[in-house]
Amino acid sequence: MCGIVGYVGTEPAAPVLLSALHDLEYRGYDSAGIAVLEPDGGVVSITKREGKLANLEAALNALDASAATTGIGHTRWATHGRPSDINAHPHRSCAGEVVVIHNGIVENYAELRARLRAEGHEFVSETDTETIAHLMEGLVKSGRSLLDALRITCSQLEGSQAILAMSPTQPGIIVAARVGNAGGIVLGYGKDEMVLASDLAAVLPRTRQVAFLADGQVAEITKTGARYVNEHGSPVDVPVREIDIDPASALKGQYPHFMLKEIMEQPESLSDTIQSLVSQEPPEVHCADLGPAEARLASIDRVVLIGMGTSLHAAMIGRRFIEELAGIPAEVDNASEFRYRDPILGPNALVVSVSQSGETVDVLEAMNVARAAGALQVTICNTQGAQTTRVAHGTVYTRAGLERGVASTKCFTTAIAALYALALRLGLAKGRLGPGELRERIQDLTRVPDAVGRALDDMGVYTRLADQYHEAEHLLVLGRGLAFPVALEGALKMKEISYVHAEGYAAGEMKHGPIALIDPSFLTVAIATTHALRSKIVSNIEQVQARGGRVIAVITEGDAHVTRLADQCIEIPAVAPLLEPIVATVPMQLLSYAMALRRGCDVDQPRNLAKTVTVE
Ligand code: M6R
Repeated sequence: MCGIVGYVGTEPAAPVLLSALHDLEYRGYDSAGIAVLEPDGGVVSITKREGKLANLEAALNALDASAATTGIGHTRWATHGRPSDINAHPHRSCAGEVVVIHNGIVENYAELRARLRAEGHEFVSETDTETIAHLMEGLVKSGRSLLDALRITCSQLEGSQAILAMSPTQPGIIVAARVGNAGGIVLGYGKDEMVLASDLAAVLPRTRQVAFLADGQVAEITKTGARYVNEHGSPVDVPVREIDIDPASALKGQYPHFMLKEIMEQPESLSDTIQSLVSQEPPEVHCADLGPAEARLASIDRVVLIGMGTSLHAAMIGRRFIEELAGIPAEVDNASEFRYRDPILGPNALVVSVSQSGETVDVLEAMNVARAAGALQVTICNTQGAQTTRVAHGTVYTRAGLERGVASTKCFTTAIAALYALALRLGLAKGRLGPGELRERIQDLTRVPDAVGRALDDMGVYTRLADQYHEAEHLLVLGRGLAFPVALEGALKMKEISYVHAEGYAAGEMKHGPIALIDPSFLTVAIATTHALRSKIVSNIEQVQARGGRVIAVITEGDAHVTRLADQCIEIPAVAPLLEPIVATVPMQLLSYAMALRRGCDVDQPRNLAKTVTVE
């Protein structure tokens, strides 16, 4: 969940690291720190501060490190040891021979620490990370290269880790290791420089030539390139590829928050995603990255979709697409539950994982379970080359561009579009979709970006609603059918950025308990669009109102009946029934954003959260 970055080159490292840390801060903001080193070695200069990056930035103003052209930097999401200056990374060994930053958890750190203490090592922090520096120091002192020291140290660590380390005894070098699924390390190949980081956002401003470290690989980086070994020390080839993401998408531009920018980008992200997956004349579904999965689609007789958080909600919608468009029985499971079951997956089962980052640890572990069971796997992912795409047989990429807001928005709606394309592809493979229906379904999909654009038109509605309801502490979001996952997603957005306790409910459940909550101070949002079993949800609205509760309804344009009934209505344009969830998602994104602003919350960096969850 932490953000890690390293730089070896010809420029002063500190400003490069700081700029990259801005791009990584969404991964954790309990503390931040950097360590820099001059080309001829000497002493490593470490600066670190509790709290947001601004604190580190202020401290760095006093540092003259212009001659230091190698360095590592870290933004922390605390696991072991409370947020503090001392627990902030980088951590160093007692003699200062090794400096380390880390993302992951050293599960056996207590035993290692006790052993190292008995050997005379003194610890200054409460972190698990510091054990790595001490372990490496012993090996470096015995004459091992930094690469070997890290590789051997990794073999002693339990759990998943992504680690960067450097040493004044071996200047001009950074070593990096990935063990398990604690998060990726991207290596960027620049001109006379290398930059490596937890994700692309921090690398793209300097280069688009990148390589991804796989599980078990260790790399040694100098300013002219990298060499890679596996866990046994044997050399391995890691392919370098060009990434076609515009680095400008990593900037906020005219928007005050990444979240708002990303909400507003949805028409374009959807359009890019849809155009990459389907064409209208002739009507075709491409899904070009399905790879070896393509040939096996016709034999699929069951689909299991998995994901976490927002991606799980997309998977719930995808399930319906697969059943309706491909006629294949489909089910959905939370990846963190699936991985601890012994799922029964026959040879003709397809596991579809949804993960915008492609690095979520529970999804990766669930995929390992599916792999062990021999299932075919397709992943829906927004990050080229991410770990999920390497585990799955095939990928359907979304083209949302970088998503920086911790609250996922455009990656949700584009994942739904990608799942629709995959369901069409399965429908074709199963011979269930004729050319006429395919043409119609593709046309439906291509109309969605425009409808989303119209749903985004009037921010004023949400500002007014937030003015009226910003003191609400509880909120029920009701939906039926395909609007149920939309309700879950809407409640998640509200919880995570405005800290309002919000629950998404299948509207039919309301009478089975939640209705007891309704009183005149209670606020309910009902997704009451045309295709969301509208007549049934209208009854729910009436039941809430009969008990004095207040209702905001999300309705299809021109629905006069619900307009008269609800306290307030938010209108969205009509689209094809199956695709309504994409458009119906927009109101809760904007309402959550407006509520968060009105309540003075930090929209892009909500408390306790991190964008990519790489620890259990
Ligand atoms: O990268 P992933 O899609 O696998 O992330 C899964 C969840 O952590 C993520 O969707 C999370 O729920 C959202 N950031 C919430 O807005």
